[in-house]
Amino acid sequence: MRKWLVLFCLCMLAVACTKKGTKEENVIKIGAAGQLTGPEAVFGADMLNGVKLAVEEWNAKGGVLGKKIELVPGDDQAEPRQAVAVANKFVTEGVAGVVGHFNSSCSIPASDVYHKAGIPQISHASTNPQLTEQGFANVFRVCGRDDQQGKVAAEFALGRLKVKKVAIIHDKTTYGQGFAEEFQKGLGSGAQVVAFEGITKGEKDYSPVVTKIKATNPDAVFFGGIYTEGGLLIKQYKAVGGTAPFIGGDGIMSEELVKIGGPATDGTYATFGPDTKEIASAKNFNEAYRKKYGEPGVYSIYAYDAANILLQSIQKAGSIEGAKVVEAIRAIDYNGALGHIQFNQKGDVKDSPYVVWKVEGGKFKQLK
Ligand code: ALA
Repeated sequence: MRKWLVLFCLCMLAVACTKKGTKEENVIKIGAAGQLTGPEAVFGADMLNGVKLAVEEWNAKGGVLGKKIELVPGDDQAEPRQAVAVANKFVTEGVAGVVGHFNSSCSIPASDVYHKAGIPQISHASTNPQLTEQGFANVFRVCGRDDQQGKVAAEFALGRLKVKKVAIIHDKTTYGQGFAEEFQKGLGSGAQVVAFEGITKGEKDYSPVVTKIKATNPDAVFFGGIYTEGGLLIKQYKAVGGTAPFIGGDGIMSEELVKIGGPATDGTYATFGPDTKEIASAKNFNEAYRKKYGEPGVYSIYAYDAANILLQSIQKAGSIEGAKVVEAIRAIDYNGALGHIQFNQKGDVKDSPYVVWKVEGGKFKQLK
């Protein structure tokens, strides 16, 4: 009897293993990493929906290399350590490539894991130059860089706002501080930096720092960071009587900024890519996304194109082997929702124009 039981168990195990094997052989997994929970989860959802849309479209056409694509989400909670844990999990799961992460402070440490595993990584939103300055052949981004973004913000402050005195605040992250330093570099000797203050992310009361900033009487306040702290800083600065406009970047480009900061955010400037709501190449994306997920966030289209670049490259490589896919991404001449994309030697996009946006009536609008 016992012998039969052991035999039965072995047979069941064999069936289970075959099933698992069949499933794994019949799908191609791709990872989508970002802050799916926590205070920045809106940015995470924007990314995930963009990748989902791309995967759904490919699967509707039969998948890639005759296999269905399985999307594996990874929640890094905007935390560097969590990002590394997500990256390791992706490696164990055998993903063929990764879209993400969002925050540079997550993308950079995670890139080390992907590099060692030879897995292609395409960030949709990480703008800190260091990401693609590490010499990792497998690392790409479809967004621009903070040395470009910081320069445009500084030129705008000097040329359009004619600032003479600027206060700078940053959130002490790789992105926030790095962007603030690039902005300062861009100002050169054109304006005086009257304050350079780091804040701690996640706090709720920034009145000591905004009071200090107000006392320096700046013509503009620059903020390197995310909408979560940006909204609070603007609101609290205006509450202590501050009147100078804030200038931020891609990290504050969310209507969440307005939800958090209220009417005080009107008149806030931010650097980002040109408006994709109207461009012809983005029309199908915008319609399909709206139908499924509502209004796209500014980075949804970047995540969608990053996923398409990855999937197209797997198709072209005819394999999910990391080195082959990386080679295909490097050589890609891609026409997507954002327009034309090609990568340079470093893995940066060849063109990444930054423009200036302004909050007017509670909405971000591109300045003409
Ligand atoms: N651009 C921001 C970063 O790099 C989101 O962290």
